[in-house]
Amino acid sequence: MILAKQLVYWYLQNKRDLPWRKTKDPYRVWLSEIMLQQTRVAQGLPYFLKFTEAFPTVFDLAKADESEVLKLWQGLGYYSRARNLHFTAKFVANELNGIFPKTYKELLKLKGIGDYTASAIASICYNEPVAVVDGNVYRVLSRFFGIDTPINSTKGIKEFKELAQTLIDTSQPGVYNQAIMDFGALHCKPQNPMCSECPLVNSCVAFAKSKIKELPVKEKKIKVKKRYFNYLVPITEENETVLEERKGKGIWQGLYQFPLIETQKITSEEELVESEQFVKLFPNETTISLFNNEDIVHKLSHQHLVTKFWVVKTTDVNTRTMDWATVKERPVPVLIDKFLEEYLNKES
Ligand code: ADE
Repeated sequence: MILAKQLVYWYLQNKRDLPWRKTKDPYRVWLSEIMLQQTRVAQGLPYFLKFTEAFPTVFDLAKADESEVLKLWQGLGYYSRARNLHFTAKFVANELNGIFPKTYKELLKLKGIGDYTASAIASICYNEPVAVVDGNVYRVLSRFFGIDTPINSTKGIKEFKELAQTLIDTSQPGVYNQAIMDFGALHCKPQNPMCSECPLVNSCVAFAKSKIKELPVKEKKIKVKKRYFNYLVPITEENETVLEERKGKGIWQGLYQFPLIETQKITSEEELVESEQFVKLFPNETTISLFNNEDIVHKLSHQHLVTKFWVVKTTDVNTRTMDWATVKERPVPVLIDKFLEEYLNKES
């Protein structure tokens, strides 16, 4: 609670003079909060002024053409936010007689309003003690308490929300929420925070442990690469097939697989049969059919293998063939094993 008091005290002396702070009109607070998720206060301000001039009430926004709304939003980016804004304005105007829901729980039900926006509106307009957690709040709390749980992990999101909720000044939740956000934006900044003149410095864990620069921690999300695998399953007149050992480094080294054609994107049958690899492997006539109608997406930690199995009936294959009993003895990746199980079940 003492932290809340200090933040509010700081805020009353340092807060920014912003038009949406002069009102408790949920329409204006909602607009400002949606815009500020998109941009910083300085860049968002002219948009807020243009919007409220063009649409002074939720009824005006509801009546507008979508193109007009998008035009005024132009430059803010992430246009689905503008579309949701328009959708919700129409809902509030037409279904709720222009009256916004008055609780966090009810606000959350509106399209485009998530935990952050619902908390901001409920606390600022209706004094409901629900904590907002935006990027500024993550920074202030992670530094002050020395918490290194990644802020973009499921665990971190829960932990910081719960902590923020315990700190809130229940007598003035809207003021408190805006105080901690402004403190993060203006004082406890990402770069060059003003520790030497910070009112919280004596209790700040990150400062004491020289960890200001390391906090908050953000988890690096691994980028998943999509690869497109086309396995050719040759079937000769003697009902033999081909299984090759996977050479070189990389996934499944040393395991066996059907001849593979990897492509840059999803490929058609025509493209496949015309490819150099296909022609080389099948010099004679073939009958080709897709075994799995839907792509099989085999998920590995860093890659998703979008896979098709093509059954290719032919008189001749330009490599060594093997019978199915031998196939079953070979070590294969799960992806191939699952195919074998289905294919052989179907054939028997
Ligand atoms: N960032 C987004 N909304 C804010 C608010 N109401 N006060 C301070 N910073 C904010």
